[in-house]
Amino acid sequence: MSAWSANQNGGRMSRAYAITAKAIAAERARVDDDLDRVDIASIIALDELELADVKPHDVKIRVLVVSAEHNIAHAALADTVNIADLRGGKIYPGNSAVGEVTEVGPDVTRFKVGDIVLTHCNGAPDAHGYPLRIWAYDQPDSVGWYAEEAVVGDWQLVHAPLECGLNLWEIGALPLRAPTAYHLWRRAEGMLRVKLPQEGLSTLNVLAFGGGVSELFLMLARHRGHNAFFCSGSPERRTALESFGIVGIDQKQFNRFADRTDVKAFGKEVKHLTAGTGMHIVCDMLRGPVFAAGIVAASRMGVNVSAGWQLAMMVTYNSAGASAKQITLDHTHYETLVGIEAATSLYGSVFKPTIHNEIYSFEDLPRAMAEMQANQQIGIPIIRVADDMPEAVQPLIP
Ligand SMILES: NC(=O)c1ccc[n+]([C@@H]2O[C@H](COP(=O)([O-])OP(=O)(O)OC[C@H]3O[C@@H](n4cnc5c(N)ncnc54)[C@H](OP(=O)(O)O)[C@@H]3O)[C@@H](O)[C@H]2O)c1
Repeated sequence: MSAWSANQNGGRMSRAYAITAKAIAAERARVDDDLDRVDIASIIALDELELADVKPHDVKIRVLVVSAEHNIAHAALADTVNIADLRGGKIYPGNSAVGEVTEVGPDVTRFKVGDIVLTHCNGAPDAHGYPLRIWAYDQPDSVGWYAEEAVVGDWQLVHAPLECGLNLWEIGALPLRAPTAYHLWRRAEGMLRVKLPQEGLSTLNVLAFGGGVSELFLMLARHRGHNAFFCSGSPERRTALESFGIVGIDQKQFNRFADRTDVKAFGKEVKHLTAGTGMHIVCDMLRGPVFAAGIVAASRMGVNVSAGWQLAMMVTYNSAGASAKQITLDHTHYETLVGIEAATSLYGSVFKPTIHNEIYSFEDLPRAMAEMQANQQIGIPIIRVADDMPEAVQPLIP
């Protein structure tokens, strides 16, 4: 089916996924506000969108590949804020994509027609480059990339590193997760080194809990020569990381930290694995029950970093205990524009993502989101948007 159709104004329409406040309300009513029963696939629906005019600094892209991202689940569940409602009743989600440039505005110098590019989700950099808001989420008027075509500002694009050794699906897995992992790592390492300088301790113990961002975080830690531990419930994902020398810990052996006994047993296992030291750096993108496990696992002077709250937004901890152990808790968000370029330069050499075994079609995107939320995937979920791929990426399709 063609992506395009002429609209009444003579403009161009593109198929794009939308999340509406109306669909959220209907699904919430159906399940009596029980978020565990919400069917995300019934909320994310195909829509048509009129593309904006290409302004002097804009680039039009044909979207080739996207990956499923959790903030779409947050938007559909309305579990953080009801972002669709706050943005007037409808959002067009999707904040990472690989695309082909099809048109450039007259003032665009970095890109030309035919280039293969990545989008990023830093929606509005603050004075220091960190995002005030996220593209296709809380950035006003931002239109996402779960669409067949899009018009974006040139500042939102990075050249895709087609020679990096990754295939197209692996490249598509990284635009959101790699910069996040890169940012988490440089923050955690910087804070740890204020307390424990390199000359006193060169090799760190680094722990992260399941998920794509955490996997990349550990690849970076391992690349820098540290001991890395991956606590996940998925045997496939643990096996994939073991090939990088990253030690797997089965989270289900500790009942996903359902009660204090499980957390204590996990603490004991961590002590065993680290010869009594514990983890100098912990990455926890989930919170909820995972948070207590991360605190127990921390070494003296440990640093706990997070940019996610997949299981819970609120945490409580014993401030006296954390002070005595001198633990630092840090909260990060997406990267700066410079950091995004730096993270992209590590595709293939450091970041080698694990991909889910099904590549979803564009029409199956809602199912990909639902299966991600239900934790049924064994790697990062990828959605093929374009049927016919440009020549430049054809050799990269497995
Ligand atoms: N602020 C930012 O800039 C930013 C950027 C990217 C992501 N995030 C957030 O970070 C979080 C993780 O993102 P991601 O892309 O890494 O996710 P992901 O690749 O989809 O992984 C999520 C992982 O969480 C683990 N998990 C699921 N349910 C669990 C449970 N009940 N208990 C323990 N572990 C469970 C699963 O691993 P196992 O089954 O293997 O244990 C799953 O693979 C999301 O909330 C996302 O929104 C934030």
